Amino acid sequence: MEQHRSHNPNPSHQNRPSAYKREREDNGRNHCENKHSRPNRPQNQSGPSRGQNPHSSLSLSTRRELYERDFPVYKQPVEVGCFSLDSERRFFNDGRQIRYYVEPDRRPNFDLRDGYKDRFIKRDDSVKEKLDHMLRWILANRSKLSARGTTASSCDLDIDFVTWRGHLTKLLTAPYETREGWQLAVTRFRGTLYISEVETEAARRDQENRTERHEEMMYWGYKFEQYTCADTVHSRPDPGGVVNTNEAFCTVVQTRLADHRLLFSGEVDCRDKDPNAPAAPACYIELKTSAEICTPKQRSNFHRFKLLKWWAQSFLPGVPRVVAGFRDEEGVVVAMETFPISKISHLIKNEHNCWKPTVCMNFCSDFLSFVKHIATEDNPSVVYLLSWEPRRDVTFSVHRDSPYCFLPHWFVEEMTSSQPSHQS
Ligand code: A3P
Ligand code: MG
Repeated sequence: MEQHRSHNPNPSHQNRPSAYKREREDNGRNHCENKHSRPNRPQNQSGPSRGQNPHSSLSLSTRRELYERDFPVYKQPVEVGCFSLDSERRFFNDGRQIRYYVEPDRRPNFDLRDGYKDRFIKRDDSVKEKLDHMLRWILANRSKLSARGTTASSCDLDIDFVTWRGHLTKLLTAPYETREGWQLAVTRFRGTLYISEVETEAARRDQENRTERHEEMMYWGYKFEQYTCADTVHSRPDPGGVVNTNEAFCTVVQTRLADHRLLFSGEVDCRDKDPNAPAAPACYIELKTSAEICTPKQRSNFHRFKLLKWWAQSFLPGVPRVVAGFRDEEGVVVAMETFPISKISHLIKNEHNCWKPTVCMNFCSDFLSFVKHIATEDNPSVVYLLSWEPRRDVTFSVHRDSPYCFLPHWFVEEMTSSQPSHQS
């Protein structure tokens, strides 16, 4: 079943303006490499140069008007598995970390500041996990993914792209993003394109310069999860416990956007505890906190900025609803509201010049086409680095045997040396 059927079943838009742009033909100077001359630039970089990379003059625009066309085909996402990360960030190929939603009062008065000083274990975000947990899941579940019955497939997973849901969310929102750019590393390996984020210099600086208030506010969302989630179907939330952000339950979903076969994973906050709830991902619930809305201006900003992020994050894996806790300045949740993802586009209809789901999905689809077009060399030690800053085009550079490489040896070796053991 398709979640959104395109009015045009064949999304090859021959008459639309191309979002790819030929920047200039003077390949004598390496445009992309110059863009990346930052202090932390990796060594041994072999950027594109004349004759090496015929597409070095290509870039991709994020201008909204280029993506205002029919909604692309986006197949209903299917959960093909899940995994858990425990309190020490160890991987388990099962759903042991799933939590169950317990509906609070309409005016719950949850104090989100409680426990920040003494009952908070924060994940070490200087450890860059890249795609490692997903790759572990792929190795453990390879037989579910491998091309059935084909002996000479050029793509042995039968998937075009492997990535995190969060990276796709950034792609969906890029045409509307005015503040934060991104860098995505892409490697083609055995026919599949792996996409992993690289922290930008600006993001690293922002992280270093966070205020104590900001640090504390980042805890509030996790504390809200603790107030509303139980560990088992029959238990109650335990607000007196420790909040440990190492723990995670992740769904792995398969879907297709236009002609791109996707496999991605995303963290899921909790599920409906009703035994008659629909199968995953339809039983999943995304939890969010947001500042309470007191003025029309605040409502408009909520529609324009927050709902875009919330919609993109949950629409991708097919999570049908967001449960939001609205908090006051002191971090006390004073109101609750449920937002069905399918209703969000109606909520923003009256907002002048607002974001459009079709622009988000078409940009993502065109970005993935662009990646397929440029990332041609099938080699685990080659990285195509796609970089984007607001109000600019997406550009790329090529790096060989560089610190940008992100497919670990254990993954490359296992995928190369052994065939999956097919389960009967
Ligand atoms: P809120 O979403 O209620 O703000 P998620 O909602 O994606 O499951 O993330 C859970 C919580 O992690 C967030 O709760 C927020 O507290 C924190 N968080 C996630 N991403 C963040 C980011 N980019 N910046 C700050 N906090 C973030
Ligand atoms: Mg959440």
